[in-house]
Amino acid sequence: MALSGSAIVHKPLGLLAELTHRCPLGCPYCSNPLALDGREDELDTASWLRVFREAAALGVLQVHLSGGEPGARRDLVDITAGAHAAGLYTNLITSAVGITEKTLGALAQAGLDHVQISIQDSDAASADHIAGYAGAFARKRALATEVLRHKLPLTVNAVVHRANIDRIADMVDLALALGAGRIEIAHVQYYGWALKNRAALMPTREQVERATAVVEELRTRQHGRIVIDAVVPDYYARYPKPCVGGWGRRSLNVTPAGKVLPCHAAESIAGLTFWNVREHSLADIWANSPAFNAFRGTAWMKEPCASCPRRELDFGGCRCQAFALTGDASATDPVCHLAPDHGQLARLAAVRSDAPYVYRRLVPPI
Ligand code: SF4
Ligand code: FES
Repeated sequence: MALSGSAIVHKPLGLLAELTHRCPLGCPYCSNPLALDGREDELDTASWLRVFREAAALGVLQVHLSGGEPGARRDLVDITAGAHAAGLYTNLITSAVGITEKTLGALAQAGLDHVQISIQDSDAASADHIAGYAGAFARKRALATEVLRHKLPLTVNAVVHRANIDRIADMVDLALALGAGRIEIAHVQYYGWALKNRAALMPTREQVERATAVVEELRTRQHGRIVIDAVVPDYYARYPKPCVGGWGRRSLNVTPAGKVLPCHAAESIAGLTFWNVREHSLADIWANSPAFNAFRGTAWMKEPCASCPRRELDFGGCRCQAFALTGDASATDPVCHLAPDHGQLARLAAVRSDAPYVYRRLVPPI
């Protein structure tokens, strides 16, 4: 721990390595930024390996190899081997489309520690419709079988919204059938691309209440068989989530082109300056870059957060959501019932439409 200005600088524990923005799927809630990095701008293998060594020296324990679809990188095996050699626990986050049986075998050999497969639904037709990719569901099942064959631990990641929230129990059954030890049930976060589809994705309050009860019942019934991680969706919560464990406190993201962000959506906040691993060391960026120091600690907070006893628990919520909903990234996250802008959430959650999804189709298929 060190001091930067008035804020304590903790050691980061996790690094999200966004190896590429290229992705074969078109999910309407894509969390990648609106302006994607092209293949020609991606960091090369040697740069990623340097980043991993610097991350380990900084205290990072775990690297999440993500995208886009990390399988789009031809050097994924070398990148994984480099992260492993740096002493990091390696977690591959994949859509499963783009990771062949052979590649998975090579990744296991290279020291891959854990695999996380995203699913769009428990129903194959609905899952493929949400992903905007025919046959994606079958490929996820096939890759999960391979993950188990290599005795790698598996987590299933399910993003829920109005079209699939009533099938949470089926998704947990699917995760069990696939051999997962854990399922993360994440509600769509409405910033970036997902804002375009908010009305088409927003669940009703009744759906959210039913889903919350289902999750509680499943946690009891499936105790010891699978770990179920789930939180109340933002627009229906009373308090905000401690987004990314606090800005510049526990984790960092490196984009395909080498920019270092305090959270995956930070580029959606206008006016922040991000430093790049091509020009600075990770340690320098973590301690001194303007973006990391913008909302570190509590000195930047306004009321009601500034004097709130929960300010070290939830850190005022999510900066990206505060910016998306109020235009001010230092505002209290409107999810908080104490926030001056809280009233608009109920109004926005009530806006729903059955318009077709606007798929994420900005890059050529891999
Ligand atoms: Fe958290 Fe701020 Fe709400 Fe207090 S006022 S609970 S610190 S978001
Ligand atoms: Fe950026 Fe929450 S997603 S701070």
